[in-house]
Amino acid sequence: MQTAGIILAAGLSTRMKSEKQKALHIIAGRPLIFYPIQTALEAGCDPIVVVVGYQSDAVQSVIRQWFSGKNIRFVVQEKQLGTAHATLCAKEMVFDIPSVVVINGDLPLLTKETLKGLVTTFYDSKFSFMITGAVFPDPEGFGRIIVDEQGMPSDIIEEKDATPEQRRIKQGNVGIYASETKTLFDLLSDVDANNVKGEYYFTDVVRILRSRNGKVGVYWIADYTECMQVNDRIGLANAERIIHTRKIRALMESGVTIHQPETIMIDIDCEVGVESEIFPCVELHNQTKIGERCVIGRGCILSGVKTGDDVVLKPYSVVTDAILEDCCQVGPFAHIRPGTIIKRDAKVGNFVEMKKTILGIGSKANHLTYLGDCTVGKDVNVGAGTITCNYDGQYKHQTIIEDGAFIGSDTQLVAPVKIGQNAYVGAGTTVTKDIPPGALALSRVPQTHIMGYAERKKKK
Ligand code: UD1
Ligand code: CA
Repeated sequence: MQTAGIILAAGLSTRMKSEKQKALHIIAGRPLIFYPIQTALEAGCDPIVVVVGYQSDAVQSVIRQWFSGKNIRFVVQEKQLGTAHATLCAKEMVFDIPSVVVINGDLPLLTKETLKGLVTTFYDSKFSFMITGAVFPDPEGFGRIIVDEQGMPSDIIEEKDATPEQRRIKQGNVGIYASETKTLFDLLSDVDANNVKGEYYFTDVVRILRSRNGKVGVYWIADYTECMQVNDRIGLANAERIIHTRKIRALMESGVTIHQPETIMIDIDCEVGVESEIFPCVELHNQTKIGERCVIGRGCILSGVKTGDDVVLKPYSVVTDAILEDCCQVGPFAHIRPGTIIKRDAKVGNFVEMKKTILGIGSKANHLTYLGDCTVGKDVNVGAGTITCNYDGQYKHQTIIEDGAFIGSDTQLVAPVKIGQNAYVGAGTTVTKDIPPGALALSRVPQTHIMGYAERKKKK
């Protein structure tokens, strides 16, 4: 049977105390709204209609960005009058589809297995409408499910409307529903706004169906952590912690060693190869892909990085949008910026910054160096304190260092400039002209000695 998915994401997100609609807040590298949409897609919902309202343009464009090519439709709820009203806005778009699931847009932890479980249970049941419940140790913020003597839902009471006794109920309304489409919209049209918040509550559907002598089914989710909602920043942090924990668990199960996993942030779209080892306080973001047998030292932060195998990142290195080839070593305290490629067997040491630089096979830049807009060939040694002067205040210029060259310490390479193959640059040289292959470049003032200077100074 075809099932449409309606995802509610129009609300004002007041409890976030944010300039941004809740759906746009990032959790483990993806916007909150990404998660329920992805789950609905994976569970086979078609079409998917997202109800947008507050900041609807921004929410739509983020969804389009993450789901380009997918059949996601939008409907705008002009005024945020409540969850029943929001769902009614989608009526025209799903009315021909026999059944529908409605998902609150702030449930990022729901798994596809659970959503599929709800849908199949609903198909196999005699119910025309089902809610989803979970037992929460702390049900704060959830509507409470009231059950009759048979254990069937007879009502959902929103927390704000609940008596102290009702608030003690631990069975919370998760905010996911399955229904025959026609039944649902018929019930929703009877909802009024007679409650503390003056909103049209979706949850009133339970009472209305019961008052018509209908039965409401309930699908209980065993793992309440799947049902945690993001109403505020605390919910946001909790959800992110759970998503990171799931990701890290999956990596450990696949053969990655992770030290102190609770300190590590790995976004859902990152990959780590088998036998790699990750030390505490590491962050991997933005489709970072680590090869096999790599070591990522304590405190490294990687974003948009691809590494080969057997790469070693020593502690506290920050690498962004760069490629690190097999067996290279970076850090500690290195800053590798976008557009950099560190080739096989190359070494980058402490306090080295690189930007748009290719460091050739087996080359080394081990200490206190800045290489920007620079192409370094094979087996080059870049001495301590080498600086490419790549910026003239207006334009950036290229430096080329050919294979086998030796750059002495404390050298400035004033770009554009080219160091020929196997050339030497003496320590302390300011290179302003191209150096021919095999030549030694020196620009220092010859050293002189003023004899007896110290003695004379003392006498004065
Ligand atoms: C809702 C349920 C509550 C349940 C909880 C858990 C109602 C009345 N209450 O409460 O029983 O325990 O979710 O998930 O449904 N939205 C709109 N338009 C609106 C209002 C809200 O699209 O006019 C969207 C929000 O953006 C959000 C979702 O609906 O994604 C749920 O709204 P929210 O305000 O978070 O509802 P809760 O108060 O948490
Ligand atoms: Ca909510």
